[in-house]
Amino acid sequence: MPINEVLTDENIEEQAWRALEKSILYYQGRPIGTVAAYDDSVEALNYDQCFVRDFVSSALIFLIKGRTDIVRNFLEETLKLQPKERELDAYKPGRGLIPASFKVVVENGEEHLEADFGEHAIARVTPVDSCLWWIILLRAYVVATKDYSIAYQPDFQNGIRLIIEICLANRFDMYPTLLVPDGACMIDRRMGIYGHPLELQVLFYSALRAAREMLVCKAHQDCKGNQDVVAAIDNRLPLLCSHIRQHYWIDINRLNAIYRFRSEEYGKGAVNLFNIYVDSLPYYELDKWLPRKGGYLAGNVGPSQLDTRFFALGNLMAIISDLATEDQSQAIMNLIEERWDDLVGDMPMKICFPALESEEYRIVTGCDPKNIPWSYHNAGSWPVLMWMFAAAAVKTNRTGLARRTIEIAKARLSEDEWPEYYDGKKGRLIGKQARKYQTWTIAGFLLAKELMDNPNYLPLVSFDELPPEAISRACEFEVGSVEPYIPR
Ligand code: GLC
Repeated sequence: MPINEVLTDENIEEQAWRALEKSILYYQGRPIGTVAAYDDSVEALNYDQCFVRDFVSSALIFLIKGRTDIVRNFLEETLKLQPKERELDAYKPGRGLIPASFKVVVENGEEHLEADFGEHAIARVTPVDSCLWWIILLRAYVVATKDYSIAYQPDFQNGIRLIIEICLANRFDMYPTLLVPDGACMIDRRMGIYGHPLELQVLFYSALRAAREMLVCKAHQDCKGNQDVVAAIDNRLPLLCSHIRQHYWIDINRLNAIYRFRSEEYGKGAVNLFNIYVDSLPYYELDKWLPRKGGYLAGNVGPSQLDTRFFALGNLMAIISDLATEDQSQAIMNLIEERWDDLVGDMPMKICFPALESEEYRIVTGCDPKNIPWSYHNAGSWPVLMWMFAAAAVKTNRTGLARRTIEIAKARLSEDEWPEYYDGKKGRLIGKQARKYQTWTIAGFLLAKELMDNPNYLPLVSFDELPPEAISRACEFEVGSVEPYIPR
């Protein structure tokens, strides 16, 4: 930006668009994605690649602006990267997965794509969220273009099916949620989120809903029909929904119930189903922190485990996807409003709250210097979350809150050159190792603004209620009631 240019809303937006255009990745002459960051001042590592989860923010703003070609190219090319055969080598990605990221490489003068399924990534983390985001984005493309034909193509039907198969495969545990390793989503470093982390459960739910809309049931000419997989989705969706609504929910009433839980209950009559020991929870802090009319979905639920940290992506996407009930959604927004300083502060918004500190930080993160308390994934502030907050605000009719976040962010983001994340309890420090010109920061800001100006774009990512009969069928969750899906 020229030195004396005054920062008006228009030129902040113009600047953001210029930076977004610059991040576009071309493959064989066609735009196919955006790089994670365009920052010459630090070593690129893998930030010069197109990350699937990061591209979703860019893709949505491109769809809104009618630039559907880049999104279509991305969906087609990433589908080609999906392994289609069962793999015997345990070090190779499983059938159905979508990579975390990819880049264009040139060999003998020819371009081709090189995918990373975690085999190159720091700590070799598994990107479970990529395949879920891929389905969610495909459905957004279909909603934006009103054209189902891409999803109905046999290769796309097969791609969706393979993703659902890997998610619904037979496994060891009997919860309707997905059991995953640590660092399998946006938080892609060890942060104590192995097990059944909220973020992945919510994306799983959205992906199942999206797949349900797009999978062709009846067999026809080029497609075998998907009755079996659709039946498996219909079985899982209501169970997953009621499991999350019931067992992840925390508000003052629920905290009271948990506070007086008995433990070591055996058999069918158990109330404390997961044998949560109340002393493992920061109940006195929560007693003070929970507003009377606020609540949120916990970070993780498992055997003797209730992670009471607030995770923004999971909670916001739960509102957007209709996984949270109407009352729960309002309560989450109340919590954010009442605990604004903690969750929004001077840069929207905290990826999670509170930070892991002292011994807990050392043990849980493995002394990760990037995730020191109040930095990066450990309660840092991530502007990309602004668009999800804006969408959740539209869905709950609380747009005033989202407008406030845009006001807070706009001047700083462009002045600070669109950092990846911020540090500190209030988010006033540019992230210690943050990249500048981080694409999802730029796209997240543009998208949040766009959703405020045009709330009717919400259906790109949102869902309506699951039919009530589906929920009541699954109201009483019983371990073991999830029917395994047996692939063909
Ligand atoms: C970091 C983030 C991850 C993101 C990637 C590219 O690894 O933790 O969520 O996808 O950077 O921006």
